Amino acid sequence: MNGSRNLTVAIRVTNPQVRQHLERVLDQVRGAGGWGSRFSGYVTDCVHLEKESETYDWFSNTIDERPENCAILLSDDLVEPFSADGTFTYLPKNYLKDILGNVQGNYVTLALMNEPRRVTDIDRVAAANCDAAELSRVLELCARKLAYLAPPSASGNHHRPLIEVRPIRSKTELCEYFKLRHDVYSVMGYLAPEVEDCASKLEINWNDRQAIHLGAFLKQPGNRETLVGTARLAITELDTEHPYQATLGNFENWTLQLAADDPVNLSALSEPLQLELPIFHSVPGLVSAEMYTNVVCGELSRVIVNADYRGAGISGHLVRQALEVAERVGVQRLFLECLPQHAALYERFGFQRLERPAAPVIGVKRTMVPMERVIVGGAAGTNARGGHTS
Ligand SMILES: CC(C)(COP(=O)(O)OP(=O)(O)OC[C@H]1O[C@@H](n2cnc3c(N)ncnc32)[C@H](O)[C@@H]1OP(=O)(O)O)[C@@H](O)C(=O)NCCC(=O)NCCS
Repeated sequence: MNGSRNLTVAIRVTNPQVRQHLERVLDQVRGAGGWGSRFSGYVTDCVHLEKESETYDWFSNTIDERPENCAILLSDDLVEPFSADGTFTYLPKNYLKDILGNVQGNYVTLALMNEPRRVTDIDRVAAANCDAAELSRVLELCARKLAYLAPPSASGNHHRPLIEVRPIRSKTELCEYFKLRHDVYSVMGYLAPEVEDCASKLEINWNDRQAIHLGAFLKQPGNRETLVGTARLAITELDTEHPYQATLGNFENWTLQLAADDPVNLSALSEPLQLELPIFHSVPGLVSAEMYTNVVCGELSRVIVNADYRGAGISGHLVRQALEVAERVGVQRLFLECLPQHAALYERFGFQRLERPAAPVIGVKRTMVPMERVIVGGAAGTNARGGHTS
């Protein structure tokens, strides 16, 4: 994206006390310069909406796939309590589900709640009585997310940095890699609060133990390299004799060592996924008994590029390299889950959308587009369960 974008903060507050408080806090957030100078790169305005139907209409009439127009929906009436099978949770209200389902474009949702907690498909939550510093912080995160949702600036293409994509080679590199993941996944609102706030500022989870980690490195004078992108290839268990076991063993050891100092990271590593890959949880019925025994599957995730290096084709280098590694390891079916904005990026590499209903991605709490790429040359041996993979 070049130049300024129109960012509207669309405010719908139903509780009079919350409204009064918010008006005061928003005045402080805007400061002397007003909305116009609040977020760099954006021309900011705000609109007050009253009814659910008015909110739906405003979004359908104002927001479309053009990235020039984007919005933050800020409301104390986005979610409602829901209880089933003895579990109590919150879900988006129906009018919001209609907006999310029907309005394609660049907007994020910010829910004000008395007791803030993560809610599926809501980008961010804040306390209804939050102060100006907190509201400023979450609005800025929302603005950074809006930047990521839009296509990258064309100017990125004029200057093609020298990039090498390769597997991570050391614990130090892996630490930088987990840091970049933490930074960008915080912006995207994909992290549980305890992970977002954790002391280490590393994003590590169970799948990192059985995964190949790739980095995109910016080559600089004097043999210096800076990590500017990441990709993770998580794979189902390989045969103990598989040539890649040693590489996987290194990654597992470094991951365990890096997690050791932070209880949040340690606890994430101690909670195994029942079905090995995240997508097996979000797409019901995807994994059959036959496939579980006989097919080596992989999942590509954490394809992330530092905001300053977007638009230079780095994500493409990461995906290409991940495909090569997946083939070498023997992966036959490679899956991923992504935002609708990113599906075209993966389609270029032969990924196809799975025509199956998907539940929110485990951990990320966001409903995404499930995709698959069959790897013809994959599978040279057996998987850990003894099944032949060719
Ligand atoms: C998505 C992401 C990895 C793209 O990285 P990137 O290196 O800037 O992408 P590239 O430069 O390789 O772009 C490839 C193509 O995708 C398009 N694209 C990238 N991001 C896009 C977006 N948000 N919306 C629409 N198109 C987008 C680019 O315009 C480019 O198209 P073109 O070749 O026709 O010009 C990066 O924006 C990112 O880290 N996003 C946040 C984390 C995330 O959501 N990752 C995806 C997890 S599935």
